[in-house]
Amino acid sequence: MGKVGDEVMQKTEQVNGQHSIGLDIGTSRIVVARSAEKESHCEAQLNAFITLPWSKLAEQLLTGQNVFHEVHGDEIVVAGNDAEKFAEVFHVETRRPMVDGMLNPHEPHSLAVIRRIVTRLLGKPAIGETEKVFFSVPAPDPVHEGNLAYHERSCREILNELGYQATAINEGLAVVFAELESSNYTGIGISCGSGMCNVCLSVLSVPVISFSIPKAGDYIDAHAAGATGEVSHRIRVRKERSFSLNGFSSGDLVQNALTVYYEEVVHTLLDTLRENLSAARRLPRLENPIPLVLSGGTVIPRGFFDFFKKVLSTCELPVRLSEVRVSPEPLYSTARGALMAASVS
Ligand SMILES: Nc1ncnc2c1ncn2[C@@H]1O[C@H](COP(=O)(O)OP(=O)(O)O)[C@@H](O)[C@H]1O
Ligand SMILES: [Mg+2]
Repeated sequence: MGKVGDEVMQKTEQVNGQHSIGLDIGTSRIVVARSAEKESHCEAQLNAFITLPWSKLAEQLLTGQNVFHEVHGDEIVVAGNDAEKFAEVFHVETRRPMVDGMLNPHEPHSLAVIRRIVTRLLGKPAIGETEKVFFSVPAPDPVHEGNLAYHERSCREILNELGYQATAINEGLAVVFAELESSNYTGIGISCGSGMCNVCLSVLSVPVISFSIPKAGDYIDAHAAGATGEVSHRIRVRKERSFSLNGFSSGDLVQNALTVYYEEVVHTLLDTLRENLSAARRLPRLENPIPLVLSGGTVIPRGFFDFFKKVLSTCELPVRLSEVRVSPEPLYSTARGALMAASVS
């Protein structure tokens, strides 16, 4: 491991010879959280890669520039944050090991790339220490339920092979752990990422209802691209740089298409939340109103929170809410919650 990794490793929380780590294995980013003097420290890599035809010269150039890469047969695989940078340099498309929150069954490099990125972010455990990693997994959705066990097992194997004790944690529950200490981990945690939105209603840290919907940032990008004849990648860049969810703007086709699909995701999320909560036999008896907290990259654009609250106010959930808020650092919530879960386990 390199110098930076060593420094991070020394900062890892140590309780009785045990270190704890939180890992968010997301469709677009993998985030690691470690404790550092009462605070947590997060580091992220894009969960993406590019492949280039192997040549000695290309390999020497990448090595010389310290680019994170690996040779597979006659291809060079560049993974993580460097993938996006070099996709532009070499005019190739970035590829993703995951789709809709889980390993992409149509991508032969998927496991190898995730293994490389996780190895880079985590390193190996210190010799003689027990290191626990809690890693996030999505809640089942009706369409992709069958792949979840394979996804979870594959991620666990990667961590076990590195020498970690690995435990899966539901992503929505991780958000509850990160954000709802003040209500004794009772409330609704939501993570709106790229592949899916994950939701968990927790009572005193116990997940009571959890579900996911396979519509989030990627869905918005792909459909806005389809509607405007643009490519998804450009739409995503525009969305992340300057989009506000504040209605139509005359003549701005991309703004309008993003608005339509953003609104659809919020409606689907809240309709599905109401349906799941209304399945009365599963709803716990709650004496007090509970908080709801939003996280994930898709909640970041200006106007999202106001639109979410507007739709929420019309949707008559069968629980009373005490407050609705957005995580102060939406991209790190899941990893921090997984760290929290690991350190109390
Ligand atoms: N500043 C931003 N503004 C708007 N959208 C963003 C921003 N940053 C990230 N996103 C979007 O959030 C999604 C990624 O969120 P993240 O929580 O990291 O997802 P995942 O857990 O699926 O990896 C992507 O769709 C991305 O385009
Ligand atoms: Mg996520």
